[in-house]
Formats: sequence, structure tokens, C-alpha cells
Amino acid sequence: MHVRPKNWVLILDFGSQYTQLIARRVREMQVYCEMHPFNFPYDEIERANPSAIMLSGGPASVWAKDAPICDSRIFSGKRPVLGICYGMQLMGKLLGGKVFASNKREYGPAVIEILKNRGIFKSFRAGDRVKVWMSHGDRIDELPKGFRALAKSDNSPFAAMANSAGVISGVQFHPEVIHTDRGKEMLSNFLFEVARLEPNWTMSSFIEQSVKQIKNRVGSHRVVCALSGGVDSTVAAVLVHKAIGNKLHSIFVNNGVLRKNEQEEVIERFKALRMKTHYVDASKRFLDRLKGVDDPERKRKIIGEEFIRVFEDEARKIKGVKFLVQGTLYPDVIESVSFKGPSATIKSHHNVGGLPERIDLELIEPLRELFKDEVRRLGAELGLPKDILWRQPFPGPGLAVRIIGETTEERLGIVREADAIVQDEMLKSGWYYQVWQSFVVLLPVKTVGVMGDERTYEQVVVVRCVQSEDGMTADWAKLPYDLLSRISNRIINEVRGVNRVCYDVSTKPPSTIEWE
Ligand code: XMP
Repeated sequence: MHVRPKNWVLILDFGSQYTQLIARRVREMQVYCEMHPFNFPYDEIERANPSAIMLSGGPASVWAKDAPICDSRIFSGKRPVLGICYGMQLMGKLLGGKVFASNKREYGPAVIEILKNRGIFKSFRAGDRVKVWMSHGDRIDELPKGFRALAKSDNSPFAAMANSAGVISGVQFHPEVIHTDRGKEMLSNFLFEVARLEPNWTMSSFIEQSVKQIKNRVGSHRVVCALSGGVDSTVAAVLVHKAIGNKLHSIFVNNGVLRKNEQEEVIERFKALRMKTHYVDASKRFLDRLKGVDDPERKRKIIGEEFIRVFEDEARKIKGVKFLVQGTLYPDVIESVSFKGPSATIKSHHNVGGLPERIDLELIEPLRELFKDEVRRLGAELGLPKDILWRQPFPGPGLAVRIIGETTEERLGIVREADAIVQDEMLKSGWYYQVWQSFVVLLPVKTVGVMGDERTYEQVVVVRCVQSEDGMTADWAKLPYDLLSRISNRIINEVRGVNRVCYDVSTKPPSTIEWE
């Protein structure tokens, strides 16, 4: 299922760490785009018929033995092309220019001087000096025939180039990063002046098209989805519900390791949205299987497997089900050279993976084309409130991975209460939405304390609070001391069995965000 509009940009990925940023910038300007690997076959490009093509940067030299190469027919002039960094050098080489292979990388800030106010510099003046971000090894020494320089830098007479028709162009630097002044303006000139695209990628047009497609595809069948209370599954369910109403059956499984009041809140929310929700309290089943288990990976496996069983049993009770909704996002499906999702190999993420094969359902993934910030905009357009759209991520295996050692009712009680205090204080102080996550971990150790005149010998909890862009790397949040102090006092006074609170000051890497 695709919601690709007629007017869109193909981004070929040559492995730069910034490729995804190019896509984000283009979409911010309301133009739909997709990233594909550099070797996306030419006949498929023709079939997909993008309105313009952008070539990303990449770490290789165009002279390397296995340098990534694209089909040179894309430079025929049929569609506007912008090559960035490696993309420009490859363009230079394939079109017969001279590319000098250098093993010294120019990395960091540089200043370019605009020579011609054309193409990507249409809104600039000749003579303007602009700070840009360079990251390249090779450089072009002689332009391909028919090309001319649009900008120069101290190190290169060809910091930007274009052919005489102005539709095939390249830049030596990275306009997509924030360190390039007026970079967005250059990309905007490419999209709207050179390629003459229309900014028509809006959430309301996305909703309109998705609803139409989902309706057609589902027909008179029924659809199931697993709710977790998280942003993605909620937005996906609400969008599908808008398309097919009560043919959507949402299943919410209580796995026994949810946060305080979570089941009531999720049920209430979907009731208010008038969505058919099947609530299954399987907490006993999960907790029975978790008895005596303290290995983190075993915990994750058990919760993942049990979830599939419970969901399967429930889905089978509903007649005529043909589809399963999943909240897969674009970064999960980008088939790319540069993004391999390193965290997946460190912890097994068991959410609903494996479900479709087990119960033989076709997938509906209405968010497949969207980045996380677009999912939030979509949710807002669908009328969902801020507290749902901006809630912090919560792992599928829930509180079980925040209890080091065995998951028992008693230990769950401690984590749940302490976690609720952290959330409450974070919300009250306004810090909740300024961090990626804030939560509590229970350690399997006891320490000595004193309460009144009495010696205590009780549990330790750790408060973990991190700032992060995407969960891949993270820094501990520098919370104000008075907030930390309130959190600590409240946990020790209000949660029975805890006499010590620590704050985790580790970054990811080398630590991870969750403790298990
Ligand atoms: P780590 O602990 O690997 O976590 O640094 C990175 C981010 O992923 C979340 N996380 C999970 N999310 N299912 C999920 O949906 C899981 O099994 C899972 N494990 C970790 C974690 O909360 C953090 O935001």
C-alpha cells in the first residue's frame, strides 16, 4: 500500500550518515520523498516516476574498488538531479569530469562564495559568502562538459556546479545539516525553483488518501490490531478506525507488567473514541511464566511469546478477520546503506513481531511512510491530545526489564509506585516533555538506612532520566537538584520497602537506556 503522490522526490542513498536528514528536510517543505539504496534499478526508477532525484553523500571515494555507483541515465536531463558531496563527485565522474582522489578528508566548516544566482542559489546574490559544512575526500578538478561553477571555496573552485540547462546540479557540501547557513533555502530552491514541485505533502492529504486506500483494501472483512497505549499503535488504530469504523477490533493485553493505572487509562481512552476494544487480563499467565526468571533475554522472550499466544487466542474469537494493523514507521523499513539499527542486536525487541506469520493475516501498516514527527502531526490532525502524542516510549516487556532479578508481585508493586511518583513530579515540573524517558529501576540489593530511631534494611531504586534524539544514543538529563530531591524524598516516604534512591549518570553508549 502506497500513498506516494504524483509529485515526489527519490533520494538515492550512498551511505552518508546524513541521508535521513535530507529526507526530513524535503518533507518539512511538504514534498513527499523516499530513500532507496544507490543501486535502485533504473527501470524501477522509470516505473516509480519520481519528479526529481537527489543523491546523498557517502564515505567512499569514487575511485574505490567497490565504490557505490548509480545508473548514469538518471543524468539525461529528463528529471532534475541534485548531487550532494559524494553524489556530486560521482556525477562529475560519470559525466566525464576530472575527479581528484584525495585521501585527506576536508571535514568541518568552510565558507563558499556564490558566483551565480541561479538554480539552488536563485534567492542568493552573486558575491554572497555563506558558511557551509564540508565532509568530503575527493574533489572535482575539471567540470564535466556543459557544466559551470555556481560557487567556489578557498579549497575548491567548484563548490557547486550545474549544467547549462540548470537541472543537473551538485554541491560539494551538505545543505541538509544545520551547520550550513541557509541550507534549507538552497534545498527549497532545488525543489521549487529548479524542479518546480508543489508543496502538497500535508497530513490532511495523507489522511484522505490513506482512508480511501484502507477502505478499498479491507472491503467487508474485519481487521485486528494490538494496542499498547504507545503513540504509534494508537495513531495507527485511530487512522484505520476512521477508515473502517467498527470493522476494526482492537485488542489490549494486560501482560502484568504495565505501569500504574495503565489498563484503565487505555480502556477509557478508546472507549471515548468509540472504538471496539477487547481487553484481556492475562497478567497471571505472564507472571506465572516469569516466576524464577532473572535473565534479561529470557524475560524478553517469555513476554514476547506469551503475548503472541494471548493475542492469537483473542483474535481467533473474532469472525472474518483478514488483516492485522501494525504501527511500523519509515525508519524501520528504509532499506538503506547507512541505517542498520544497531540496538536490535543488543536486546531482542519483542513487541508484535512474528504475529502475522503465526495467524496468517495480511498486514496493514498505515504509518510505513512516516517519520516519528510526522506520526505526531498525523495524530494531532486526527484529534489526539498532547499527552498521548508526546508520551515517552515504554518498552514492550514493560516493568519486567526494570526489575533487576526476578519479577514478583511485591517487586512490581515497588517499581510501579516509584515510577508513578517520577512521572508525577516530571509532569508537574514541566520536565516530562523535555526528556526522552524518565523511569525507575529496582535493584536486587538491600542497604542499611535509618528511619526515626530504627535501623532499616531495605531496597534501592535508581532513577534513570535521559535525553535523546532517537534512542540510539543518549545522555543523562541534568535535572535540577530540587526536583531530584523531591523525587527522592517522595519515593522513600511513600513507597514501602525502599530506603535509598540513586540517580543514573551514564550515557549510551557505553550503557543502554534500559538496564536490561
Ligand atoms: P536501550 O535500552 O536499548 O533502549 O538503550 C533504547 C530505546 O528502546 C526502548 N526499548 C524497547 N522498546 N520494545 C520496545 O518497544 C522493547 O523490547 C524495548 N526495549 C527497549 C527503550 O525504552 C529505549 O527508549
